[in-house]
Amino acid sequence: MSTKLTWYGHATLGLETAGFHILIDPFFNGNPVASASADKVEADFILITHGHGDHVGDSVAIAKRTNAMVISNAEIAGWIASKGVKKTHGQHLGGGYKHPFGYLKLTLALHGSALPDGSNGGNPAGFLLTTQDGKKIYMAGDTGLFGDMRLIGEEGIDLAVLPIGDNYTMGPDDALRAVKMIQPKVVVPIHFNTWDLIAQDVTAWAERVERETSTLVKVIKPGENLTI
Ligand code: NI
Ligand code: MN
Repeated sequence: MSTKLTWYGHATLGLETAGFHILIDPFFNGNPVASASADKVEADFILITHGHGDHVGDSVAIAKRTNAMVISNAEIAGWIASKGVKKTHGQHLGGGYKHPFGYLKLTLALHGSALPDGSNGGNPAGFLLTTQDGKKIYMAGDTGLFGDMRLIGEEGIDLAVLPIGDNYTMGPDDALRAVKMIQPKVVVPIHFNTWDLIAQDVTAWAERVERETSTLVKVIKPGENLTI
């Protein structure tokens, strides 16, 4: 059994694991680098890291079309339910739950989380997924660098997905420090080159990471995937 990770551009990810399609932060409409469309993607579950528009994205429309379950912090799950989505599951920071696709824990993230209409989106999160075959995938969400990433690294991370765009999240320097703390086997950079404001030289970053750590960097383009 393997898990396939697809990057749809910006912070939008897809995971195929244990026979389920999972979308993370599905932002297609208005995303200048989106490699798929909101009215075609498959979803059994939708995971939302925080309330910002470039992460909540098309969650409500996709959940209504696919009947997917939306998983997020309790505030966002409640807001999504108030929009008419039937299946939601609220968790909170540090809490894990055994979903059909694996064990999902919400991790800290240093960021904001106001929802698009100004509603309280609780606190931002990252996701730590343990797949059915025991692989650990850490998706940091939008976050600045924080020292407790070391604690996440202690779990033994197979794949880390980190923002490197700067301005709103960690930039390349802090993302390199994050890799040193987390020590994942593989890292995938995201949340860059969506707009000029977060343009980065990802090749230069990958070279630095591979020179200074033993982590393998997988630079993928929107629409591409990798299997672990
Ligand atoms: Ni954000
Ligand atoms: Mn963002």
